[in-house]
Amino acid sequence: MLEKNKSEKLFAEAKSLFPGGVNSPVRAFKAVGGAPLFITKGDGAKIWDADGNEFIDFCCSWGPLILGHNNGSVRKSILEAVQNGTTFGTPTTQENELASLIIDNHRYLEMIRFVSSGTEATMSTLRLARGYTGRNKIVKFDGCYHGHSDPLLVKAGSGLATLGTASSAGVPEAYSKETIVLPLNDENAIEKCIAEFPDDIACMIIEPVPANNGLLIQGKEFLQFLRKKCSEHGILLIFDEVISGFRIGFEGAAGMYDIQPDLITFGKIIGGGLPVGAYGGREEIMHCIAPDGPVYQAGTLSGNPVAMAAGTAQLKECLKPNFYSDLNAKTANFVKNILEYTKGKGYFFRMYHIGSVFWLAFTDRIEIRASSHIDSDSMRYFKTLHAALLERGIYLGPSGFEVGFISEAHSEEQLQIAETAFKESLDIAFATEAKLQAK
Ligand SMILES: Cc1ncc(COP(=O)(O)O)c(C=O)c1O
Repeated sequence: MLEKNKSEKLFAEAKSLFPGGVNSPVRAFKAVGGAPLFITKGDGAKIWDADGNEFIDFCCSWGPLILGHNNGSVRKSILEAVQNGTTFGTPTTQENELASLIIDNHRYLEMIRFVSSGTEATMSTLRLARGYTGRNKIVKFDGCYHGHSDPLLVKAGSGLATLGTASSAGVPEAYSKETIVLPLNDENAIEKCIAEFPDDIACMIIEPVPANNGLLIQGKEFLQFLRKKCSEHGILLIFDEVISGFRIGFEGAAGMYDIQPDLITFGKIIGGGLPVGAYGGREEIMHCIAPDGPVYQAGTLSGNPVAMAAGTAQLKECLKPNFYSDLNAKTANFVKNILEYTKGKGYFFRMYHIGSVFWLAFTDRIEIRASSHIDSDSMRYFKTLHAALLERGIYLGPSGFEVGFISEAHSEEQLQIAETAFKESLDIAFATEAKLQAK
């Protein structure tokens, strides 16, 4: 049995300090049960917890660590920057360096603004889209997550109503009424929505690779249709690439699908493991932001030099030849090997992947493109799987709705060890379920 004494004690203490003992809800292990592990160290693909247990990590801090933990170039760059002070509240050379690196290597970005989180990035693009178009309504898609700002914590309304309802307490109805929630992968829903509100929609925001509620890979045609409809009706198209940006490839999903959104949001990888978000796109739109234009947006620590240095070091590594082809091939092979095994066993199981993101689902659907395709009941398999994987030294994010990430640091040998652990743990999950059903 996994030794968890220290993590359990620390969690008991944390519960008196933070709501639910955590500073972000999904860390709390609510979906899988038990105390979360307190991680004390990471290096390469591995992490260690307070009890000294060692794991191969497939959570990678929920996506930022595309080079793995404690990468040498990123560490060096952070240490060099820190020696000159940590923040000045003035422009710095580090901001210019990271911005140029990104803009020079991304076809669809003409100008960028740095913020400190993905939430700040998406929230700011909504204000910008509203300021630019002079319209109020925004459209989001069911199954996509865009951070925790009020207008985006909205879910589909009931029945035929297109207007959303708040998905969190504390979001005023006046806000949720301005957010329309549509199903993914449904061209008719887009047509109907535009017909209902022809002159009111400022923007449509979508994760082009929805990766927050399973991995709901969209068809290119659907995204192209969205682009076309937005252009026809003066609606700004925002790609939220907080996960997919610099992950699916340097140009993210925009580059992979070859679709130019009006604005793109970033987070996670862009900061090399430090808190950075950004949004950018067409220059003409970006000039609407203060101090050039009337849309206000600011931040004391925006473009922080230490965080910029970390981001620059990480993205320079990503730009090296074959970085993405090697990482993506490694991921495809990992998924293929596990799927070959589960197919042979006849398990009701699939694994989906794009770039170096993967997701496992207890289903027989070849494609899952909308959140309505996910059977939330099947998450009970995940709970058993998660526990069995921890016992075998494999760390996955503690929810079956979350995706996993593979980093450059995951070696072939580590992936082979992980494959064996996945196969054994899946056997346990299916055997446990069979026993329960036989009762
Ligand atoms: C697609 C997407 N957008 C926005 C966010 C919010 O980013 P942050 O947690 O940095 O505020 C997330 C976070 O997971 C995300 O996955």
